[in-house]
Amino acid sequence: MLEAINISKSFPGVKALQGVNLTFYPGTVNAILGENGAGKSTLLKVLTGVYTNYEGEIRLNGELVRFTGIKDAEAAGVGIIHQELNLIPQLSIAENLYLGKELRNTFGLLDEKAMEKRTKELLSKLNLHLSPGTLVQNLKVGEQQLIEIAKALLSDSQVILMDEPTSALSDSEIDNLHAIISDLKKEGKTIVYISHKMDELFRIAENYTVMRDGETVDAGAMNETTEKDLITKMVGRDVQILRKVQKVNEEKEALKIESLSLPHPVLKDRKLLDNVSLTLKQGEIIGIFGLMGAGRTELLHSIFGLHGKKTTGDIWINGEKAKINSPKEAIKKGLAFLTEDRKTEGLVLNMDIASNISLTTLKIDGLLNEKEEEKLAQEYIKSLSIKTPTSKEQCVNLSGGNQQKVVLAKWLATQPDVLMLDEPTRGIDIKAKSEIYDLIKKLAESGKSIVLVSSEIPEILALSDRVYVLAEGRITAEFEAEQADENKLLKAAI
Ligand SMILES: Nc1ncnc2c1ncn2[C@@H]1O[C@H](COP(=O)(O)OP(=O)(O)OP(=O)(O)O)[C@@H](O)[C@H]1O
Ligand SMILES: [Mg+2]
Repeated sequence: MLEAINISKSFPGVKALQGVNLTFYPGTVNAILGENGAGKSTLLKVLTGVYTNYEGEIRLNGELVRFTGIKDAEAAGVGIIHQELNLIPQLSIAENLYLGKELRNTFGLLDEKAMEKRTKELLSKLNLHLSPGTLVQNLKVGEQQLIEIAKALLSDSQVILMDEPTSALSDSEIDNLHAIISDLKKEGKTIVYISHKMDELFRIAENYTVMRDGETVDAGAMNETTEKDLITKMVGRDVQILRKVQKVNEEKEALKIESLSLPHPVLKDRKLLDNVSLTLKQGEIIGIFGLMGAGRTELLHSIFGLHGKKTTGDIWINGEKAKINSPKEAIKKGLAFLTEDRKTEGLVLNMDIASNISLTTLKIDGLLNEKEEEKLAQEYIKSLSIKTPTSKEQCVNLSGGNQQKVVLAKWLATQPDVLMLDEPTRGIDIKAKSEIYDLIKKLAESGKSIVLVSSEIPEILALSDRVYVLAEGRITAEFEAEQADENKLLKAAI
């Protein structure tokens, strides 16, 4: 169906793709695996005309094609779902779906009814209970990602390229998407699927290709390989993830929260957070697990002062009662918060790596000199293995996983007492993940206290000393790490 022949693509200082060869067959799901920065997204962008300047050939149904842009590719039946969200927040769901391809009636006027109807159908196909008129800015990250998927379904492409479509989805939404993919497969469509989540690739993909440093190093059938095998091909060695063992300082309470509540912005009889109480000892990592919409992010937002006085309840930091009504006050009190949505909240994309890392420290201490800034940047580029030619590279040019590492570096640089992490390893490859896990554990050992929100149960289990489970804004269970397992966490979350 689609073939890449000897594709190469360079950026200043980076050979992103070098002689890549790939073949995708109709009616199959084709997985692409590789570490952060391996060239996966770049390949998809070459295949869909985002980059027109490349070497090599692309064949669609055997015919040589050279797309001039995304629209051109879409018209030929090749659609892409980007890794980064590309929605316009101020527009509604329907407006986003039909942007640039609005339906018109016989009078040439916008046929809003027809667009709304089709949008509704797509939303219900994706099991999203939202009205087509809802503004995208009011949607959660996971919902936005599903809207991206709806966009690709709308254009009815023969080939759909999906760049980490599930990185912000909850388990039930992932099941949904997988069901849709099976349907598409039955219709003979070709799916290309990038993901760092190994288990889902084994569930849905027939074929795999492993990329490393811009080259395709291996390809084959999923049912003839194993997870361990694939990881070794990706990173060149085995990766093991061990549980946190270091004990905590039971004497000192780094953070205590009592009866935290947050009203629902619209519905009077509902609460986003309902009487949440928890404690965090010094050197401890607490995991917060819950399904999407359980209130995990709202909890971190509330602690960090992002809801101002709307949040009620008491917070103690290092034994002292703290009034936190803004992020500025939170940072002053030694809190740091890594948000789940790096594009809008975590990174200034058109600034370079070094400036992004020193952004938060700069705000607190006044000016950092350039030499210090560079030293800081080099330190984190090394310790987090951020893949980049230099510290002066703009973040917009980094691969998704490497952007996430810069966000992490930015908050580590503030040297916080309490670090709150919301989905810290979303989109991060397995080797970098294990490195980040080690780093988080080391931080805890050095006396930092950590609140970890994650929808990945293995991540929660690998890192936490204790786990709290949230459901509908309430804490429904608390486990010591040794007592927690996947089953118990899910049960409490539901
Ligand atoms: N527009 C650009 N300008 C400069 N360098 C770029 C640009 N886009 C990508 N790169 C570089 O090309 C390499 C491949 O990046 P790419 O985004 O394709 O990686 P990826 O495999 O998708 O990684 P991830 O899993 O982190 O998303 C990286 O070193 C990246 O920094
Ligand atoms: Mg990518």
